[in-house]
Amino acid sequence: MKIIHTIADIRDFVRQARGKSLTVGLVPTMGYLHVGHLELMRRAANICDTVIASVFVNPTQFGPGEDLDRYPRDLERDARLAEGAGVDAIFNPSVEEMYPAGYCTYVDLERITEKLCGLSRPGHFRGVATVVTKLFNIVKPDCAFFGQKDAQQALVIKRMVDDLNLDLEIIVIPTVREADGLAMSSRNIYLDPEQRRAALVLYRGLLKGQEEFRKGERDPAQICRRVTEMIQAEPLAKIDYVEIYSHPDLVTVERIQGPALLALAVKIGSTRLIDNILLGV
Ligand code: PAJ
Repeated sequence: MKIIHTIADIRDFVRQARGKSLTVGLVPTMGYLHVGHLELMRRAANICDTVIASVFVNPTQFGPGEDLDRYPRDLERDARLAEGAGVDAIFNPSVEEMYPAGYCTYVDLERITEKLCGLSRPGHFRGVATVVTKLFNIVKPDCAFFGQKDAQQALVIKRMVDDLNLDLEIIVIPTVREADGLAMSSRNIYLDPEQRRAALVLYRGLLKGQEEFRKGERDPAQICRRVTEMIQAEPLAKIDYVEIYSHPDLVTVERIQGPALLALAVKIGSTRLIDNILLGV
C-alpha cells in the first residue's frame, strides 16, 4: 500500500490504475481509523478494483473553539489498518497542499444544511462539501463511500453530486456500533470511563424513539419528547438537538408517513457526539 502526500502523485497513481482499466473507489476520512471506517474500506474493496482512502483533518469544517487542534492523528496506525481492509493507497495531503495561500473557493448548499448539525456548527457543511468536491476532482473516483453515522453529511454529499452533475456513485454504509451500541467515532477517544458509560444514552434514546414508533406513535414531537426525557435522565449528557425529519429530503413533518430520520447530538462533558436511526424503513 502506498502513502501519497501530493495531488500530483495521487493523480499519477489514479492515471496508472485507469491505464489498466481498473475502477477506482474513494473513502474520505479524517483518520484515526476505527471499525466503522474499515467497513467502508472493505465495502469499497469489494466493489472497486482500486481503493484510495484519504486521511485529512480538514480545517475548513471545524468552527472556532472546536477540536481541530486536538483531533486525534496517527498515520502509521491508520496505514496498517487501511492496508488490512484492502486499501491500495492513502492520500494524506498537508493543509497547504489542499488550501494553498490565496485559496478562496467554497461549495455551499442551501436548506438541507440549515438544520441539525448545520445549525449547531455554522460553516461545517460548507467545509465538508468543499473538501469532498476537491477530493472528487483530484481522484475522480467511480464510487465514493460514506457512513450513515453522519446521516446529514451523506445526504448533503448526495444532493451536491446530483445538483452539480458530478459523475460518480455515492454508496452509504450502515452505522457500525460497539458491542454495547455506542456508534463508533474517532471522538470516542475523548471520553473517560464514566463518560463512556454515559454516552450509551444516545443509542438508548434512539431505541426508545424506535420503540415509540413501533408502538404506533406517528407524532414527531411526541417521539422526540420521550427520547429527550430519557437522555435528560443522564446527568452527564447535555442535549444539542433531538429531531425528526423526513428522509431523504430532511423536511419537517407534522406526522410520520414515510421514512423518517431520528437524529440527535448530545454533549458528554465537552465531547459532542451524534447518532441517528431511520424510522419506517
Ligand atoms: P470521519 O469522521 O473520519 O468519517 C469518515 C467516514 O466514515 C464518513 O463517511 C463517516 O460517516 C464514516 N463513519 C464514521 N463513523 C462511522 C460508523 N460508526 N459507522 C459507519 N461509518 C462511519 O466524516 C468525515 O470524516 C469528514 O467529514 C469527511 C467526509 C472525511 C470530510 O472531511
